Amino acid sequence: MKVIDAICATSLEVKRKQIRFDENSGLITEVGDLKVPRDQVDFYYDDSCLLFAGMGDVHIHAREDVSGKNNYKEDFLSALAAMKNGGVTHAGDMPNNPIPPIDNASYEAKFHLGSKAHRCLWFYAGIGPNTRPLSYAVPYKVYMGPSIGELYFKDLKTLDETLSHYRGQHVSFHCEDPEILEAHTKEATHPERRPVEAETVATRDALMLIEKYNLKGKLCHYSSDEGLKLIREARSRGVNVSIEVTPQHLYFDLEHLEPDRMKAFQMNPPIRHQKDREALKAALKNGEIQFLATDHAPHTSEEKEKGTSGLTGLDTYAGFVTWLLAEGFSPELIAKVTAENPGDFHNQFMESWKNLSSDYASFGLGLGYLKPGFRANFTVLNLHSPQLITTEQLKTKVHHSPFVGVTFPGRLMNLFIQGKKI
Ligand code: DOR
Repeated sequence: MKVIDAICATSLEVKRKQIRFDENSGLITEVGDLKVPRDQVDFYYDDSCLLFAGMGDVHIHAREDVSGKNNYKEDFLSALAAMKNGGVTHAGDMPNNPIPPIDNASYEAKFHLGSKAHRCLWFYAGIGPNTRPLSYAVPYKVYMGPSIGELYFKDLKTLDETLSHYRGQHVSFHCEDPEILEAHTKEATHPERRPVEAETVATRDALMLIEKYNLKGKLCHYSSDEGLKLIREARSRGVNVSIEVTPQHLYFDLEHLEPDRMKAFQMNPPIRHQKDREALKAALKNGEIQFLATDHAPHTSEEKEKGTSGLTGLDTYAGFVTWLLAEGFSPELIAKVTAENPGDFHNQFMESWKNLSSDYASFGLGLGYLKPGFRANFTVLNLHSPQLITTEQLKTKVHHSPFVGVTFPGRLMNLFIQGKKI
């Protein structure tokens, strides 16, 4: 048994507590005022630190699949190294692979390949034209239009027909309308080729489909102000929809990017205007956004130079969170969007994953909470230790980040995964 003593942040309170956990089972056994004398505490953190339940990123591209074709960009172990560097204890990997996981057999092949990342990675299944659900519950991802990879829809009719088979499932949407993208291919800049209108129209359609097929919907890497109004309206009708936002959409905007560095910031959906960034910050602050998710999407520097879309984000997750805290986002809210909501999202599929692997026997009640029975995963931040991001610090295989040159107010202090200090 080990004991940590730290100021702990949950969605309910911020308070100094002691946490006792079992290094062997990897589970938390007791939390509260345990009265363990200071000299018998194994890990003590002073008031400059905040401890959260292990943070989770529900949207990454770890690139590895059974073909191995994209392992030069990232693989499960390099993604795991970047996660650990950024204080992320678990992450959901997207299915836009050369061999996409779209049915039981292809999903299980990727799932078993992923065991090398000690189940810190979990997997979405893809939905493409005419696919059908797996025989057990998994998170699904749908690309409403072209982005990276071949798994996407070209029109609403085919998407509607396909989703009619996925009633009640958990589906995450990349919201960019294919016809609007097609109509803008000749525009001069990336943000103009993928305008806000593409996200707004796709959002309207995604909300319609979520309602029609009673889906548990999640809208990925939300980027603009416009669609937030549609989401509010749908929620008021009882539509079940959550939202992700990325660090880069909260931090950068077109008014402040240097024009000659645009390729380094190219992603789908694009970085938008200041008014969108401010609307996203406001929506995060008032509880309308459920997940801080990076969309970590590594491509080599040569590929970026040629104009390939995708930004990395795992290495800088913890540093970015210290910026949010300095911007006045409460630790309670941060606990919700970085730990508890990602934990809840993960935990609802554990029964399926348990049936695929005995590794899940050690997961207890799951991830995301500082409570007995949950996994002893902790992300400890030092809020007052400024960190200048340099390429040398990055563990992602591609060694670049949109945050290189940025100084965050704090950094990752320590990380614990399954009761082990990393
Ligand atoms: O910019 C992006 N890159 N957006 C996506 O939707 C996919 C991602 C990737 O896989 O590189």
